[in-house]
Amino acid sequence: MQIVRDVESLRNAVDALRSDGGRVAFVPTMGALHDGHMALVAEARRRAAHVVASIFVNPTQFAPNEDLSTYPRREATDARMLEEEGCDILWAPDAAAMYPEGHSTTISVAGVSEGLCGASRPGHFDGVATVVAKLFNQVRPDIALFGEKDYQQLTVIRRMVRDLDMAVEIVGVPTQREADGLALSSRNAYLSEEERQAARALPRALGEAASAIAGGADVAEALAKAAEKLAKAGFNPVEYVELRDAETLEPLSALDRPARLLAAARLGRTRLIDNLAVSPRE
Ligand code: PAJ
Repeated sequence: MQIVRDVESLRNAVDALRSDGGRVAFVPTMGALHDGHMALVAEARRRAAHVVASIFVNPTQFAPNEDLSTYPRREATDARMLEEEGCDILWAPDAAAMYPEGHSTTISVAGVSEGLCGASRPGHFDGVATVVAKLFNQVRPDIALFGEKDYQQLTVIRRMVRDLDMAVEIVGVPTQREADGLALSSRNAYLSEEERQAARALPRALGEAASAIAGGADVAEALAKAAEKLAKAGFNPVEYVELRDAETLEPLSALDRPARLLAAARLGRTRLIDNLAVSPRE
């Protein structure tokens, strides 16, 4: 696996890969890789001849009060994991290579970026959309893979690609979970042992609400019950538990189309998110 740190070397390395006519798949990450990221790389391998991954802890998607400075960084371990999974190129620019002096363009995806995580993290999805657009222009992949774990992010990227006619196919990969249901996340490392035990309430409450709603329960009641369970388990604040249209993220008060149940809540200093598909019974 080649590790490259400037755009010109990246272009040359990707062109060399592509010279055999095989497709290039791309997996953007912020590193501190776990089995969730690895599932994206494995799916990339299945779908394309060549795989490029990136590691860049993108400063513009962190608010000033967020965890940019403490976000886990372990590139050597990450590089080993990527190589073992069959990744061909690791694109690992520093902030100066990504945002040269004078960088002044921002991509803002209205609608789907608003509400949910966009409400408590102003500017976050502008940072994500902008860096992902840059990464696409740098790597020029045929397909790019994103986790359903960050469902609003996946929706923002899909919308951006459609709106800007970007020539890349976006593939969503199901959320990888621990044995007790907790979604894998680099931020789980912040949890104390006690918080880790409490964290399982998040997938459990969502699972219960999803089956209740799919079984015809009142949506508002099911959402309130889930929020209550999270508060009881020690989450504070429970930022949101909402049912949204699976594609547009429009709020739903009844299950009349394919939907997504999404939640965010804080456990101590750690903000956790999760989501599940909910579909009306045939
Ligand atoms: P990061 O949090 O490192 O996640 C990289 C990719 O891994 C994202 O597509 C995310 O949804 C996916 N992922 C994380 N945990 C997962 C899990 N448990 N199961 C499946 N997929 C999972 O998301 C970002 O980085 C950044 O915002 C980025 C897109 C790289 C832009 O900076």
